[in-house]
Amino acid sequence: MAVRVLPLPPVLVLPLLLALVASVHGYGGYGDGKLRVGFYKDSCPDAEAIVREIVAKAVHKDPTANAPLLRLHFHDCFVRGCEGSVLINSTKGNTAEKDAKPNHTLDAFDVIDDIKEALEKRCPGTVSCADILAIAARDAVSLATKVVAKGEWSKDGNLYEVETGRRDGSVSSAKEAVKNLPDSFDGIRKLIKRFASKNLSLKDLTVLSGAHAIGKSHCPSIAKRLRNFTENRDSDPTLDRAYADRLRRRCWRPKDKTTELEMVPGSSETFDTAYYGLVTKRRGLFHSDEALLRNDVTKGLVYRYRDSPETTFLRDFGVSMVNMGRVGVLTGSQGEIRKKCAFVN
Ligand code: HEM
Ligand SMILES: *[C@@H]1O[C@H](CO)[C@@H](O)[C@H](O)[C@H]1NC(C)=O
Ligand SMILES: *[C@@H]1O[C@H](CO)[C@@H](O)[C@H](O)[C@H]1NC(C)=O
Ligand SMILES: *[C@@H]1O[C@H](CO)[C@@H](O)[C@H](O)[C@H]1NC(C)=O
Ligand SMILES: *[C@@H]1O[C@H](CO)[C@@H](O)[C@H](O)[C@H]1NC(C)=O
Repeated sequence: MAVRVLPLPPVLVLPLLLALVASVHGYGGYGDGKLRVGFYKDSCPDAEAIVREIVAKAVHKDPTANAPLLRLHFHDCFVRGCEGSVLINSTKGNTAEKDAKPNHTLDAFDVIDDIKEALEKRCPGTVSCADILAIAARDAVSLATKVVAKGEWSKDGNLYEVETGRRDGSVSSAKEAVKNLPDSFDGIRKLIKRFASKNLSLKDLTVLSGAHAIGKSHCPSIAKRLRNFTENRDSDPTLDRAYADRLRRRCWRPKDKTTELEMVPGSSETFDTAYYGLVTKRRGLFHSDEALLRNDVTKGLVYRYRDSPETTFLRDFGVSMVNMGRVGVLTGSQGEIRKKCAFVN
């Protein structure tokens, strides 16, 4: 028996067909598979609140805990996309991202593990490790931003709304980390290229570099810059001389891995625009920071964020974090929800 089909005017058929195609492709990163704000609203309503509580506790205990959480999300997104690969442990046959050289002192894995444990208790098998990284980064930077922490920015105390709905990958490779992560000695062309390969613009590059308003570094990350930058074993000429002298005194032991260098001396626990002031004074810690002055667009933005009200930067930072959080994500039925973030299921 033939099913009676209502004759549809052709103007309706095309949109309908497109909608069908879109829903079929829904699991490939479009349609249903898209990230969205509040992905866990029904499946785990307290997910974001639980992450916030544990991040707040960690930062309360140790105010320097905010920076590593922000950095982890960046390292995750730049290697294979934001799919939690930065959290996977090495195995006998495989050296994972976290054991690659640019891991340089990645930290805060324990905070992520605590969050995961709490979430598995509340809503087993629901919240991905990749999303935990994205939410925790948002919370860490929110707590470090004065106007936000004081409740003068948003009702919920967030710097920006974080998209969720990521799923976890199953591959983590040290080699890929080395290949994909920007290097502190990178010049502007290389930085632009690396960000472009993740669909991130010159603006994203400049804004996200502002993350270096919080946190610390260690001597090996700038050793070459202090003593061995050119063939004549000079220091990096783009580094302010007095500042270079000061850093050389602090990093006098070759291969010193323990001395901590504040990104922004005296203010490395508050997220603000102080970083851009340092960059214009050639006192950014890394060559890659100073490199932002070597392109008209990025340079213009550095000065704009230095000179505009802080809200300009804060608003743009939220936008660029959302952009970064979309890089190479797995959605829909791709990947898995890891039970423990350090191991694939
Ligand atoms: C533009 C290219 C970038 C380069 C070359 C770079 C490089 C570095 C290096 C070398 C360190 C210090 C590691 C150490 O010596 O312990 C560092 C720390 C840090 N980076 Fe970046 N980074 C870049 C972009 C970003 C982005 C996009 C974010 C986040 C959105 C970020 C967030 C951080 C944070 C928060 C720290 C401090 C971590 C801590 O205190 O433990 N960085 N970065
Ligand atoms: C996974 O790696 C982390 C740090 O790299 C380490 O602290 C932890 O003990 C490892 N977990 C297991 C179960 O091996
Ligand atoms: C980073 O990699 C080094 C080896 O390159 C390793 O010794 C160290 O444990 C790693 N750090 C973390 C946090 O896994
Ligand atoms: C200086 O840099 C050169 C070239 O990168 C390297 O071969 C050499 O080992 C470095 N020397 C020191 C003392 O770090
Ligand atoms: C960049 O955008 C293009 C087009 O939307 C997409 O196909 C590609 O997967 C994106 N790349 C990354 C790394 O997200």
